[in-house]
Amino acid sequence: MAYSPVVFAAISLLAALIGFATFKQVKLYYSRRRLALENGCKPIQGRFPHKDPILGTDYMREGMAAKAKFKALERVSGLFDRLGATYSFRLFHKTMVMTAEPENIKAILSVKFNDYGSGNRAKVLGPLLGRGIFTTDGESWAHSRAMIRPNFTRHQVSNLDAVEEYVQDMFKLIPRDGSEVDLQPLFFRLTMDSATEFLFGQSVHSLRPDIPGIPSGNAFARAFDLAQYHCSLRFRMGLLASIKGQPKEDVEAIQTCHAYVERFVDDAIRYREKYSSGDGPSEKRYTFLYELVKETMDRVRLRDEVMNLLLAGRDTTASLLSNLFHHLAKRPEVWKHLHAEVATLDGARPGFEQLKELTYLQRCIKESLRLNPPVPGILREAIKDTVLPVGGGVDGKSPLFVKRGTLFSLSVYGMHRRKDIYGPNAREFDPDRWEKLRPQGWEYLPFNGGPRICIGQQYALTEAAYVIVRMLQEYQSMESHDPLPWLEQMAVTCCSANGVKVALTPA
Ligand code: HEM
Repeated sequence: MAYSPVVFAAISLLAALIGFATFKQVKLYYSRRRLALENGCKPIQGRFPHKDPILGTDYMREGMAAKAKFKALERVSGLFDRLGATYSFRLFHKTMVMTAEPENIKAILSVKFNDYGSGNRAKVLGPLLGRGIFTTDGESWAHSRAMIRPNFTRHQVSNLDAVEEYVQDMFKLIPRDGSEVDLQPLFFRLTMDSATEFLFGQSVHSLRPDIPGIPSGNAFARAFDLAQYHCSLRFRMGLLASIKGQPKEDVEAIQTCHAYVERFVDDAIRYREKYSSGDGPSEKRYTFLYELVKETMDRVRLRDEVMNLLLAGRDTTASLLSNLFHHLAKRPEVWKHLHAEVATLDGARPGFEQLKELTYLQRCIKESLRLNPPVPGILREAIKDTVLPVGGGVDGKSPLFVKRGTLFSLSVYGMHRRKDIYGPNAREFDPDRWEKLRPQGWEYLPFNGGPRICIGQQYALTEAAYVIVRMLQEYQSMESHDPLPWLEQMAVTCCSANGVKVALTPA
């Protein structure tokens, strides 16, 4: 049978394409094999025993069932006990690796930093945060970080007078007659108020009632909460979120947030234009935005960076406070010990150095960040074929080959609860363990490590310590009104699912 020249050309082209694709695949196979052999890699030791090995839906179903009981993180910890500290499972068309192994976490976050990207973070957070330090990788991220980091010196992050103002607002909302209060939403409002003061130069005052007729910061705070909720929904829904499209209430919430922040951005730009040659009259009090505008006048860029910081810094610090107060309410002896330590201040408001010297307080904070890290897991995606130091072979101690596109969840929560690292009481709240414990490596990581280490660590630790001391100075005792143990509530950060329901007795 004779083919027409067109059909012949099409068949030849197809054959050439198939030949080329096969050649590429074979080449890739051998280059991967060589990389694995050269590094002594062995197959991963722990694999989730899927009933649905094609899409891995059983892993997700189990995860959702555990989440409904507020135990998704605990389930993952249990899987580490069963399958080893590094295990893999199927996630639709991809492989996902969970690891609670310090050596692997160090490799991903530091030693082989350039082999990994931040996965789908831009997709999930992008609608709210645009392009900023938190949502970008590579050059763009490095530029953001270089621009932002100088604004986080000790001097700039320890403006405790500003925090005191919001602590006073919060005290006004705590009943003084011993009736029940949920501290968790108050901590979230307090950190919103102080973060907006630090970033915009004007607090949203979410701890104060709305004033009729004045554009409300509270409306911004509510819209930000709602937009953040949709971010965590997008994260959980994965591909389904793109198919479903963006809900109207999310679009509107984001518009409210952007419009609110743009007002401050415009003020800062106008101010910089007016005082281009030096510091203007109102720069005595440090404001992040007024510093950033010295670096760029790009309106969208400024808005996005500030939004990125608000998301990175607000819920995390509030979650730390909530988680710690949940434990303090249930452990009167720890509260008493803290009380005695804080009494050494003789009722004076503490400064930055004094906070550092309150050793038991510092241990309590460390322990809360260990047991209930506000960021319990860090996601990364391999952007090239690479190798991890451990996780391969029967004993899990051999190097592990990692294919480009593999997703990773670095389980800080799982690692912080490993009994072989923290001892048999690893899953209990025990501040005294920090009397002797000095983690040398990467086994304690509430603030991440390597080039993307949290830049707000000092800010958060100072603010949290200050709020705790002021609470201890203001209240004699605290009683838990929650019969349940700490249960996780996962959104952008992790806090207590039941809130922090307590009764406080004034000092
Ligand atoms: C207890 C409070 C906090 C905790 C536990 C915490 C934890 C973390 C963690 C684990 C990361 C890495 C996330 C990742 O790479 O996937 C991170 C990054 C970051 N944090 Fe924090 N954070 C806290 C408070 C703050 C505060 C108060 C700010 C700023 C005001 C802040 C700003 C940032 C920024 C900008 C990044 C991104 C750094 C980068 O990608 O280069 N954080 N934080």
